[in-house]
Amino acid sequence: MDTVIEVEHLRKTYGSTVAVEDISFTVRAGEIFGIVGPNGAGKTTTIECIVGLRKPTAGVIRVLGMDPQRQSKELRQRLGVQLQQAALPDRIKVWEALDLFASFYDQPADPAALLEQWGLEEKRNTAFTNLSGGQKQRLFIALSLINNPDVVFLDELTTGLDPQARRATWELISDIRRRGTTVILVTHFMEEAERLCDRLAIIDHGRLIALDTPQQLIAGLHQETCVRFTLPKEISLDILEKLPHVNRVLRQGDEVAVYGSGPVMAHVAGALASHDIVPADLRSQQATLEDVFLKLTGHAMRE
Ligand SMILES: Nc1ncnc2c1ncn2[C@@H]1O[C@H](COP(=O)(O)OP(=O)(O)OP(=O)(O)O)[C@@H](O)[C@H]1O
Ligand SMILES: [Mg+2]
Repeated sequence: MDTVIEVEHLRKTYGSTVAVEDISFTVRAGEIFGIVGPNGAGKTTTIECIVGLRKPTAGVIRVLGMDPQRQSKELRQRLGVQLQQAALPDRIKVWEALDLFASFYDQPADPAALLEQWGLEEKRNTAFTNLSGGQKQRLFIALSLINNPDVVFLDELTTGLDPQARRATWELISDIRRRGTTVILVTHFMEEAERLCDRLAIIDHGRLIALDTPQQLIAGLHQETCVRFTLPKEISLDILEKLPHVNRVLRQGDEVAVYGSGPVMAHVAGALASHDIVPADLRSQQATLEDVFLKLTGHAMRE
């Protein structure tokens, strides 16, 4: 099956609060599909509706061809869910948690294999409360995979982790996909979204405001790349003005800024090298997803 999730005009209100105004998208088999947006945008609500934990106020959702409300039992066997507010009893041991979760499913994965895959063998007898933040995250991933799901939902898996643990988690998420599982990833980290996601939905105030590959979202800004370096102002840089992809060259004292598009960095570096000019601090600044978000919403991701 090509499409694993279809969301059409999803709307969800809690009393007078509109959590999701109108959101539509599809997720394809085998992709890492990202959802980003500021606090309160409706990300978790959307996921809860997709997995059947909440009933949409309006709209249609299909997951693996099923209706999450009417076929929730069947569907639960095939979905893995790590919710943002996930918690376990403090004193439950790692192996006990896996055993417990395995008991909910008809055909669970082998808990011992999951412990090994997620580097938790040594901690199998450790109480949940005594795990480090990163180990807890690994346990939650392992638990979300206990039923060998076709689709796994990870809601802010890396929030609260240090940068190193977060990077390690990226590897784990790529591993999940390599094993053929479709991944829905909610994150507040634009770098994470850019690195991991095949496609990215940006939501704000309960609406989808953009959906594309991270590369296309950035390219859509049509923002120039800026190549910067320092060079004594006596050295002429006329050679750069005529290069392909270069729009203009600005100099302020020793500081040089070359604005252009496409592979401007390669051209500038090549031209400088061929004239035996080797600035030590050649660097390029490009638009990021953070800029995309700012442009589309008029506010920063974290405000
Ligand atoms: N159970 C609930 N009852 C009432 N309002 C709720 C409930 N759950 C969420 N909301 C409201 O719905 C809106 C969307 O919440 P949601 O949790 O979906 O946002 P989010 O995008 O996941 O945010 P965050 O990045 O903070 O996790 C918020 O205004 C929130 O206060
Ligand atoms: Mg949330």
